[in-house]
Amino acid sequence: MVEDAAQGVNSFYRSRALGLIGDLAAYSFHETKNYICGEGGTLCINRPEMVDRAEIIRDKGTNRRQFFRGLVDKYTWVAVGSSYVPSEICSAFLYAQLEMLEEIASRRRAIYQTYLHELAPLEVEGLLRLPCIPQDCQSNYHMFYVILPSRQQRDNLLEHLRQHDIHAVFHYIPLHRSPMGCTFGYKEGDLPITEDLSGRLLRLPFFYEITEVEQMRVVQEVTAAVRSPAFRHPVDTSVKES
Ligand SMILES: Cc1ncc(COP(=O)(O)O)c(C=O)c1O
Repeated sequence: MVEDAAQGVNSFYRSRALGLIGDLAAYSFHETKNYICGEGGTLCINRPEMVDRAEIIRDKGTNRRQFFRGLVDKYTWVAVGSSYVPSEICSAFLYAQLEMLEEIASRRRAIYQTYLHELAPLEVEGLLRLPCIPQDCQSNYHMFYVILPSRQQRDNLLEHLRQHDIHAVFHYIPLHRSPMGCTFGYKEGDLPITEDLSGRLLRLPFFYEITEVEQMRVVQEVTAAVRSPAFRHPVDTSVKES
């Protein structure tokens, strides 16, 4: 089993780190993640017998690692591979963040909790739903999202925030609805809950350097938008007056 733990660095399920669940797992250090080096990631190999093969693939299909360990007298091409070794600059950039792993995690926890606390009244009023972390999961607070009652309201809120220079985004289009997914024969309605949630979900700005003042401005604009009567009863703009 290959585990997609792209966003999962430093999160745990039943005290087990994500990345340790599959035979192989991939972490991403893409710039949108919690710990980054621009592009790239890590392959976690949880089955020792796969390490040699992975090293060969990483080193252009050569047994160079074995050569460095003194296990062969010269290195040569032994299988298919590519050049997956990260540069030292990228690695150093990432390493500095891994040294601050807990500091980054605790800052992100604080950002998450501020949103959760400040937006709680809107959930009580039934205007949106907030994320909830199941008890046996320990989050790395990768993102903060809200779920709106309808797709129209989600899109309206996105537009409202955009007009106030707040960069909020929707999340992934469900894979089965992507052009690639469609080639496997999936069609609209096959996964109705996934499709529904994907249309109503909105991610708020969430990054290590966000200040409390900036967060409060986001909260203020979300609150103003979802409490406005026009938002609750959106005008159907598809019907034009003659
Ligand atoms: C769940 C998931 N899988 C895979 C990827 C791809 O990661 P990368 O851009 O490092 O290849 C991402 C990145 O957005 C992701 O969120």
